[in-house]
Amino acid sequence: MRSERLRRLPYKDLGATEGSSPMGGLFFDTPRFANSVPFFRFQRFGHDDIHTDSDHKLVVVMVGLPARGKSYIVKKVKRYLSWLGFQTKIFNVGDRRRLASSTGETAGSVDGGSGDKPCAECSNPGVRTAPCTECETRHPSSFFDPDNESAKYIREQVAIEVFDDLLRWLQAGGQIAIHDATNSTIERRKALIDRLVSQADVNLLFVESICTDEVIINRNIKLKTRSPDYIGMDPEVAEADFRARLRNYERAYRTIGAAEEKLDVQYCKIIDVGKKVIAYNIQGFLESQVVFYLMNMNLEPRVIYITRHGESEDNVAGRIGGDASLAPSGIGYSKALARFIDRRRLEFAVEVEEATHHAPGATTSMSASSTPGTCSEPEAGSPCPEHLRRYRRRRCGEPDFEVWTSMLKRAMETVEYFDPQRYRVKNIKSLNEIYAGKCEGMTYSEIARDFPEEFEARQLDKFYYRYPGIGGESYADVVLRLQQVIVELERIRHSVLLVTHRAMARTLLAYFMDIPTTQMPDMELPLGYVYACEPRPFGNFLRVWRYDSRIDDFEEVDASSALKIRCSQRSFPDSNSAAPLPSPAETTYYPARQRAMS
Ligand code: F6P
Repeated sequence: MRSERLRRLPYKDLGATEGSSPMGGLFFDTPRFANSVPFFRFQRFGHDDIHTDSDHKLVVVMVGLPARGKSYIVKKVKRYLSWLGFQTKIFNVGDRRRLASSTGETAGSVDGGSGDKPCAECSNPGVRTAPCTECETRHPSSFFDPDNESAKYIREQVAIEVFDDLLRWLQAGGQIAIHDATNSTIERRKALIDRLVSQADVNLLFVESICTDEVIINRNIKLKTRSPDYIGMDPEVAEADFRARLRNYERAYRTIGAAEEKLDVQYCKIIDVGKKVIAYNIQGFLESQVVFYLMNMNLEPRVIYITRHGESEDNVAGRIGGDASLAPSGIGYSKALARFIDRRRLEFAVEVEEATHHAPGATTSMSASSTPGTCSEPEAGSPCPEHLRRYRRRRCGEPDFEVWTSMLKRAMETVEYFDPQRYRVKNIKSLNEIYAGKCEGMTYSEIARDFPEEFEARQLDKFYYRYPGIGGESYADVVLRLQQVIVELERIRHSVLLVTHRAMARTLLAYFMDIPTTQMPDMELPLGYVYACEPRPFGNFLRVWRYDSRIDDFEEVDASSALKIRCSQRSFPDSNSAAPLPSPAETTYYPARQRAMS
């Protein structure tokens, strides 16, 4: 049976015809590039005929020398596109190469399946089942020598195998696949293009990462020496081997250019982490989203803090939505929050200064993580006076910390105690809470009593469920509303505190911590917590603090147990206060990212 809510706002009722968009055909002019706007599927009728509007799929093929931040870009893009609702998957060629070397799979096909083929570098046998003892790695630098024919054959074969897997995954229902490899020669790129000729519904975008900044390259090389290729190896030997590998790649490397242009492909080049971007022939909606997103990334060390507003009068009464003011407990939280962020801001700045001081240039997102508190001089428990002095000197200029709130009273009142001289406060309507339409101002029990069908429908599919009544929203709608906020957060170079609401905080954290949209609406995010996402080379690192009214201060809690997803989210408490946690049986603990390189 189709429920009322699934009949709301069908795509065609928005005035669209097949092949055009409700926005006036902007996205659908060119059939070849008709990638869908995310979540349009919700605007179709019932579950039985849900589909994604995405008859066209996309392959993103990475290009670039090793240590140019390709994997960093790949992970970011994957996280963004997944959050936007696209089935996105990374296909990493390096992983397959290592696997092939340990199983003898791919190498076997070169010499008829023997698992005892000699090491491509030094002729020692048994290299596929264990690292070569002479070279200490399964794939020493000579494996990447463009003149090493047998090794080259294996490398090409692995890259193509991975690409074929990727195409099979797309045909089985995937939407966006990312080929994560160097793809640094024209021949390799042509081979990949050839394989796409028969796939009329798959678009192709090359993304080349070029980096000319020696500092960043050197940092990335240091990271590479800790990669699976060099496990257990002396770091200096590993670095020497990696640099030799790099020189081999450089000999064969050709940047994207005329050869690809002749084939009419779409490509973009990201130069020096987005300082310069070249976009060629970009026609698809998705492709343009990817390029726009990549233009806005930066590597500044900073923190994105997310918290809900202080407790409001509606929270106390268990009512959803509305525009109530803070309750007295909420005012207490607001004061403590301003003090806490003042303190954290200073601590973080000192951590950055310390990391810069002890390991020059080691604080950016592509670099090794900072190691706070390691200065030898300072008194125990206090920041190094020299770092503090330097930070204070730097801080004299413009406020370098923004505070963003929704335009609802409870959020704006929560930041009343921030010093406007030191914090730039912005009120942004896109951060308003999910709008509950006809259910605004009701308690969950009242909704269950007065609109039982709605209540049930929401429990069955909370992400796509849209509240009835004018302006009623779903979580899917909220993602779209936050898209520009996310790009802006990626663009700006300093820390931001977002003071917002439960559904919004869930949606923002799902983006930063790569939490699947299916789990997003069931994340438990009580009032009184601050979530801090710190960009690192392999994703965001999460720290969590909880406000304790007894001490009127925040204390850090274990991030992996603070970020919970309720499996049995089938009852709604009327109160939003920091309620007792559910038993572990009801809860999936979402693992926080490990500290990047520690
Ligand atoms: O009750 C607080 C609140 O922010 C409501 O305004 C909002 O409707 C709700 O939480 C969102 O949470 P959920 O999606 O779990 O109902």
